[in-house]
Amino acid sequence: MEWNPPFARWFVGGKLNASYICVDVHMRSWRRNKVALYWEGEPGDSRTLSYAELYREVNRYASILKKLGVGKGDRVALYLPMIPELPIFMLACARIGAPHTVVFSGFSTGALADRVNDVEAKIVVTADGGYRRGKILPLKKTVDEALKTVKSVEKVIVVKRTGAEVHMEEGRDLWLHDLLREAENYVRPEPVDSTDPLYILYTSGTTGKPKGIVHSTGGYLVFNHSMYQWVFNIKEDSVYWCTADVGWVTGHSSIVYAPLSHGASIVVYEGAPDYPAPDRWWSIIEKYRVTIFYTSPTAVRMFMRYGEQWIEKHDLSSLQVLGSVGEPINPEAWLWYFEKIGRGRCPIVDTWWQTETGGIMISPAPGVGLVPLKPGSVTYPLPGIDADVVDEEGRPCKPGVRGYLVIRRPWPGMLMTIYGNPERYKKTYWSRYPGLYFAGDYAMKDEEGYFWLLGRADEVLKIAGHRIGTAEIESAVVEHPAVVEAAVIGKPDPVKGETILVFAILKEGYEASPKLASEIKNHIRKVIGPVATPEAIYFVRSLPKTRSGKIMRRVIKAVALNTPIGDLSTLEDEASVEDVRKAYEEFRKAMEGK
Ligand code: WTA
Repeated sequence: MEWNPPFARWFVGGKLNASYICVDVHMRSWRRNKVALYWEGEPGDSRTLSYAELYREVNRYASILKKLGVGKGDRVALYLPMIPELPIFMLACARIGAPHTVVFSGFSTGALADRVNDVEAKIVVTADGGYRRGKILPLKKTVDEALKTVKSVEKVIVVKRTGAEVHMEEGRDLWLHDLLREAENYVRPEPVDSTDPLYILYTSGTTGKPKGIVHSTGGYLVFNHSMYQWVFNIKEDSVYWCTADVGWVTGHSSIVYAPLSHGASIVVYEGAPDYPAPDRWWSIIEKYRVTIFYTSPTAVRMFMRYGEQWIEKHDLSSLQVLGSVGEPINPEAWLWYFEKIGRGRCPIVDTWWQTETGGIMISPAPGVGLVPLKPGSVTYPLPGIDADVVDEEGRPCKPGVRGYLVIRRPWPGMLMTIYGNPERYKKTYWSRYPGLYFAGDYAMKDEEGYFWLLGRADEVLKIAGHRIGTAEIESAVVEHPAVVEAAVIGKPDPVKGETILVFAILKEGYEASPKLASEIKNHIRKVIGPVATPEAIYFVRSLPKTRSGKIMRRVIKAVALNTPIGDLSTLEDEASVEDVRKAYEEFRKAMEGK
């Protein structure tokens, strides 16, 4: 490691290629005939790719990108549903040294445009749609809309998935199947430096626009390869299913790079978890004999509500290890997961990590030695990870005392920087406590040193495990012509972890009404996507602010959740607190009355 605080560079001088490591190496053994990917479409169609087939496809896709002028260092944006083409394109980009930016297909126009613009992508890859709950996601239409505000994109590659009619722009849009006719079967993998970026993935922060998290190639791969061995005990015969979308970091590491670098078989499912019935997932586990299953607490809680009859119909005896990620898992959900899904046989690895950490940091590790588990605790940091919990001043907290989670030493999967904004990187992660990586999470250690994660300590929300910044939602709300100002808070939710509440001040001449509230909701869906749909919108005359004009979300939250408001000494206008309280109560009554 070369450590120029706060910038770390790993395996400097080393050369490698991620697609070579995930695909080519398996060509030299019997694994070439092994299943790399079991894919299941929502309507029930399926596809199986052996490693040899994956190799062929990755090469052919890489040749297409090359012919379109994509070279080392050029960025390619992938806005695709959960179809095999998504991991294939990621590996094809890696093959030619072009960092990819995957944009979650649940994001909409504004979110897509922001990301493509920031990364200045040359190519966007999308599809004529993807299936979700029996409906077709109009991805191509969203791309057409988003690209109106983007200059960098030269070509759009379109995958035919649904057969839905789409507009193809002359000279810009190209069908993948047309391009494949001219594709070559071999493209030499481009040797890249260990410190060359493998990908840029956007995530939400406390303020402003999403940040492009830059991951290296060497450090990222070494870290993930090791962690999946230690945490999941991944083996030759593992059938690994991570239910996350590839559009989030969990999908990058846990669907594509780590399991494929191990030559495991992965499962990818396109659609909604409970479609057409609440046993869809359990039927997939049975069908492919899944051995390692990795999902979110939100999903576990949702299935708890559906009841056990959906699980009992299926043979889940292939399962060996269960994983949880994305948000704290409550002990009740943990025990249910352990007993009903794992039938009391499978350890649960509750894995704490972030887009920024690249891979798992704190988790039980059955692959190296299992410590006694405690439902709701992520147990101990993994080997090499120097994590701690500190107070406001940066001093280690006593057992049982809540503080902030920090990491004391760099690790190979650590983000390299924020794309195009090293200052923001320094400020966000390394300025709160000089010399310590600030994760932005509350945590606690118990008497035995077990770590307990207690939720975000900043303005980031976790909605069903999806990470969304309050600032992003607020900026979408104020884009609506009726709104002058808005504040967004997260409200605890028994299934999704959190839901979104919006407090908005209307412009002169606009009347608060349920119709306007639903119009604003639709606007948010259109700009960011369905993940950001608020549970409710409250109209207020003012918002509590500090004297320097910053909205005090914690005050709004305390009012809405009816918890102690705390210190108000920096508040500018006391009346605003009452105003929020009144608006909130009135609306709640109005809604309950319906
Ligand atoms: C939260 C997801 C509790 C946490 C991999 C973190 C968790 C944020 C856990 C990162 C866990 C993730 N227990 N909280 N096991 N795993 N988190 O970037 O707040 O989408 O900071 O990465 O998710 O979310 P991100």
